[in-house]
Amino acid sequence: MRYLVTGGAGFVGSHVVLALLDAGHDVAVLDNFSTGHRAAVPEGVPVYHVDLMDDQATANVLGDKPWDGVLHFASLSLVGASMADSFHYLRQNYVTGLNLVQACAAHGVKKIVFSSTAALFGGPERAEPIPETALVQPDSPYGESKFMVERILHWADRLYGVKSACLRYFNAAGADPHGRAGEDHRPETHLIPLAIDVALGRRSALRLFGTDYPTHDGSCIRDYIHVTDLADAHIRVLDQIGARSVVYNLGNGRGYSNLEVIQSVERVSGCRVAWEKAGRRPGDAAVLVADSTSLRQDTGWTPQWSTLDKIVETTLQWRKNNPEGYTR
Ligand SMILES: NC(=O)c1ccc[n+]([C@@H]2O[C@H](COP(=O)([O-])OP(=O)(O)OC[C@H]3O[C@@H](n4cnc5c(N)ncnc54)[C@H](O)[C@@H]3O)[C@@H](O)[C@H]2O)c1
Repeated sequence: MRYLVTGGAGFVGSHVVLALLDAGHDVAVLDNFSTGHRAAVPEGVPVYHVDLMDDQATANVLGDKPWDGVLHFASLSLVGASMADSFHYLRQNYVTGLNLVQACAAHGVKKIVFSSTAALFGGPERAEPIPETALVQPDSPYGESKFMVERILHWADRLYGVKSACLRYFNAAGADPHGRAGEDHRPETHLIPLAIDVALGRRSALRLFGTDYPTHDGSCIRDYIHVTDLADAHIRVLDQIGARSVVYNLGNGRGYSNLEVIQSVERVSGCRVAWEKAGRRPGDAAVLVADSTSLRQDTGWTPQWSTLDKIVETTLQWRKNNPEGYTR
């Protein structure tokens, strides 16, 4: 099959490109390299250097070849930045999604897999894993913008027969176990790479946002899913969305507090992670843990790499081997 991956130069997209290639598919990447890296795209994979805000250029890519499906990762994705620059976030994520889905409908592309997010649940503090049926009530423009794209996909199915899978990721983390790709956000805001950088002496201390949440140790609880398991879910879902559109939560089903993450990094690296208290960040929920039962039941997906220590181990290895991250 031939697949187009938007945002394939980014963290999650680059790992899914590898999984698609490993599964024997033809892959091309569409990216504007705003946060992605050239070197994250494997040699030989064609690249369209295009901004999805440009509807004509986007339509040209979709019309360039007969695509069997599109995987849509390209997005702005920081909760905090979306609180500060809300209209920019809403516009970018909505318009890029609309341009892409419209071009897919116009060119007869019938399958789209979309990176949605647990941030669209937001809202009340929960101790229970969140099912797909939970109330959508985003706490941030970022979460809202993802839900807006889910709604575009709903109408694309109803009116144009474009089938989609909206995968509501919880926290993607880890790195390719073969060392071919890793996480390199600039600036990095994700806890695991930041804690590892402190352990490796590349940062002085970690700022822990909120230590007074109603959790067992006062820090936020998140569900970390290894990016290789996440990629595997995309491959399985692609096989499955021929007949109907689906929405799945995609997580490990087990939450770890920020302090437990720090302990794991200390355990795996053998180094101390200095941290300091900081205030809560607006838009952060206390607990976000996925109930991914429907994905497991429908596709047979079972995470293989998603214990916290394995996630930390693969991230540590990648950061040790790539001290500067991607160099282009
Ligand atoms: N990383 C996570 O934990 C996580 C959690 C939930 C959801 N998600 C979603 O998964 C997707 C991938 O996340 P990531 O961590 O890999 O992000 P990332 O920033 O590493 O990758 C995004 C990619 O999209 C590209 N891009 C952004 N805007 C574009 C545009 N207008 N046109 C073309 N390309 C554009 C960037 O250059 C980059 O390569 C995002 O949609 C994000 O919202 C990620």
